[in-house]
Amino acid sequence: MTQDELKALVGQAALQYVVPGEIVGVGTGSTVNKFIEALAGIKDSIPGAVSSSNASTQRLLALGIRVFDAGEVGELAVYIDGADEIDGRGYMVKGGGAALTREKIVAAQSRRFVCIADDSKRVEVLGRFPLPVEVIPMATQRIVRQFQAMGGTAKVRIKDGQPLVTDNGQHILDVTGLRIREPLAFETEVNQWPGVLTVGVFAHQKAAVCLLGTAAGVQTVSY
Ligand code: A5P
Repeated sequence: MTQDELKALVGQAALQYVVPGEIVGVGTGSTVNKFIEALAGIKDSIPGAVSSSNASTQRLLALGIRVFDAGEVGELAVYIDGADEIDGRGYMVKGGGAALTREKIVAAQSRRFVCIADDSKRVEVLGRFPLPVEVIPMATQRIVRQFQAMGGTAKVRIKDGQPLVTDNGQHILDVTGLRIREPLAFETEVNQWPGVLTVGVFAHQKAAVCLLGTAAGVQTVSY
């Protein structure tokens, strides 16, 4: 099976976690795009979605799925999103699509995070994928030095020759060379550095369940 087919498989499988009559939290990325396509098939059973990015909002609206602002609704039953890495405890690295801050906000508003991923995302220790960190540009150089002191190399993400600008008007640093053995402590520490909007470690908002696409089918892992 191709990676694309595995993504479609888990996107479809995630429908079983959508609660009829309840608004669903929707993440961002190529795997979630498959979920959004599948969700369109059952759109009449839910009031709509809360989206984690402008890109997902556009896709949801194009398929006739109503999009609510996070601030106009209460707690969500479920948040469905992909990951760049997931470890054996349900801790994740996210933000490859630069949507990490809004993803963390919607995840925090949801009772249950259901991660959908192909099995290439499984890791023993977080840190293989360059860690995305959304930063306020005036703090970038100092934050780069703080990662250097930890043994990491942080680079500003570039798009079309310019620093990528997120949905929140900020920049992304991608940090290589880290082995994140204590995700909860790491997330807590980096998140309090001045100028860090969000670090892409999702430990406080970890997955409750992961639907992993494998050659043998969908493997469901609960944490
Ligand atoms: C978006 O900012 C990310 O957190 C995505 O969830 C993550 O990059 C996974 O994306 P894919 O499903 O495209 O691999």
